[in-house]
Amino acid sequence: MNDTATGTAGVSPAVPTVEPILDVSGVTLQYKTKEHLITATYRVDFQVFPSDRFVLLGPSGCGKSTLLKGVAGYMQPVEGAMKLKGREITEPGPDRVMVFQEFDQLLPWKTVKQNITFALMNGGKCSSKQEADDVAMEYISKVKLERFEDTYPHMLSGGMKQRVAIARGMAMEPDILLMDEPFAALDALTRRQMQEELLQLWDDTKFTVLFVTHSIEEAVIIGSRILILSPHPGQVKAELNAHQLGHSDVGDAEFAQLQEKIHAMIFADRVLEDETLPNV
Ligand SMILES: Nc1ncnc2c1ncn2[C@@H]1O[C@H](COP(=O)(O)OP(=O)(O)OP(=O)(O)O)[C@@H](O)[C@H]1O
Ligand SMILES: [Mg+2]
Repeated sequence: MNDTATGTAGVSPAVPTVEPILDVSGVTLQYKTKEHLITATYRVDFQVFPSDRFVLLGPSGCGKSTLLKGVAGYMQPVEGAMKLKGREITEPGPDRVMVFQEFDQLLPWKTVKQNITFALMNGGKCSSKQEADDVAMEYISKVKLERFEDTYPHMLSGGMKQRVAIARGMAMEPDILLMDEPFAALDALTRRQMQEELLQLWDDTKFTVLFVTHSIEEAVIIGSRILILSPHPGQVKAELNAHQLGHSDVGDAEFAQLQEKIHAMIFADRVLEDETLPNV
């Protein structure tokens, strides 16, 4: 299923072995409330390889954010395991950085540059202020915000705030960048622009990203691989390849076909859900 060579014992040594950065295996994640035990994901499997733009796609409530929380180390699976570079994930760490949908993820009392240098110093990435300043400026220029380095978040547009959050995340040079619907609250034009910019950044640095969305179009544009989840509880429905498709292909036959195929998969679930008793 993977387009990357995974390597198996006994296979010809001429085949290069690529280890996954992230290995999610049989992961069930649950929330315990006073009244309920909610199974958010059930025995989910996927592997993210270096430089993948791996997208988690599925309807609201299928456990996309919960999976990211698990990978970030904020939740432990009740069965299965999540491994980062072969080590079990047991707590949060600077090797995984999260970018959220909300515009208020920046520290409002710090400027654009200070938001980034603060993360770099606190996360142990830089030991001197000068080094942190240099790294911050490098990433501020990557997201084209040079003129706004000394600006406070309340003076920025939603798209600009998301650029700062992305620059801050990338500056940490994590093993994997975790993005939870980072463009969902933006207007359509800005969203399109941000998707393009993210792909340009990826062309530059080939970072590894686990990207959550419930937009089929966004999944096909951003993703090199797409994991489709079905809801209640979230289970893997399919894994698809989309690395050959991007913005310039929107509206093309191949793009439309893949969108249609994904739509049918997700819609099939909705029909089944409607026919069964409501889930609690
Ligand atoms: N803090 C929580 N306490 C209890 N249940 C929760 C909590 N957070 C999420 N859930 C439940 O877990 C399931 C998965 O939620 P999750 O937020 O991961 O879905 P999602 O796919 O990210 O949805 P959306 O697209 O709406 O963001 C849902 O049934 C939800 O109600
Ligand atoms: Mg979510």
